[in-house]
Amino acid sequence: MNVVTRRHWHKKTVYLKEYESPALLDLIENIDQLSCPVHYLKEGDTTTVMRVEVNDKTWVIKKYNLINMWSRIKRALTLSRAARSWRFSFLLRCLEIKTPSPIAFIENAWGPFRKESYFISEYIPGVTALDYFSKFTSKEEEMIVMANKLLRQIKLLFQAGVTYRDMKASNFIINPEGVFFVDLEGMRRYKNSFLFKRAKMRDIKRFKKNWKEMPLCQEIFFSLT
Ligand SMILES: Nc1ncnc2c1ncn2[C@@H]1O[C@H](COP(=O)(O)OP(=O)(O)O)[C@@H](O)[C@H]1O
Ligand SMILES: [Mg+2]
Repeated sequence: MNVVTRRHWHKKTVYLKEYESPALLDLIENIDQLSCPVHYLKEGDTTTVMRVEVNDKTWVIKKYNLINMWSRIKRALTLSRAARSWRFSFLLRCLEIKTPSPIAFIENAWGPFRKESYFISEYIPGVTALDYFSKFTSKEEEMIVMANKLLRQIKLLFQAGVTYRDMKASNFIINPEGVFFVDLEGMRRYKNSFLFKRAKMRDIKRFKKNWKEMPLCQEIFFSLT
């Protein structure tokens, strides 16, 4: 795996060499003013998630805004959220947990002060775990298989001492290939086992809350401890 890193006063860019093309370089150059077709998947105060068509490829750009001075200072001292997403994408792939292939991340900066950052990954067609599981009215084989895939990946994550810290059902995208984890920037890897156990319990609690109104899923996911 070959990673290209470019640093300028205003911008840091990191991308995978295998994705290098005039279209990617153009996207990176004009990331603040996109000229390609854009479909908004989510628009929030702190993040914007866009599906973009680049040549014949469909990618996702997640833009992380810095909303106030404090977050600017904090982000200047710690890794940007785009860089965190990038790192955890590779870690998950090593753990054999499905996640969209990472393509690039970009950090806008003014000298040492970081501004917006962007994470670019492959678009995964599919539905969120909530939409997927809510279509079942009885314990069908297909549902059990997918639930076990999801549980297996969560266990792999925990075995590596990592917690998600955002186990919303909307962060799991399901298609016939399996379950893809998105929204990775909040993840954390622990060295301290007490802190890990506490964070893991919080993850499990949040995960189970997804199925509050869905007794079938409650039953299936009950075993997660
Ligand atoms: N790579 C991707 N492929 C397909 N859909 C995605 C991808 N990344 C995000 N999404 C969709 O966009 C939604 C918002 O993205 P997410 O990273 O979870 O943002 P937020 O931090 O605002 O929750 C997700 O719930 C998912 O439905
Ligand atoms: Mg999310």
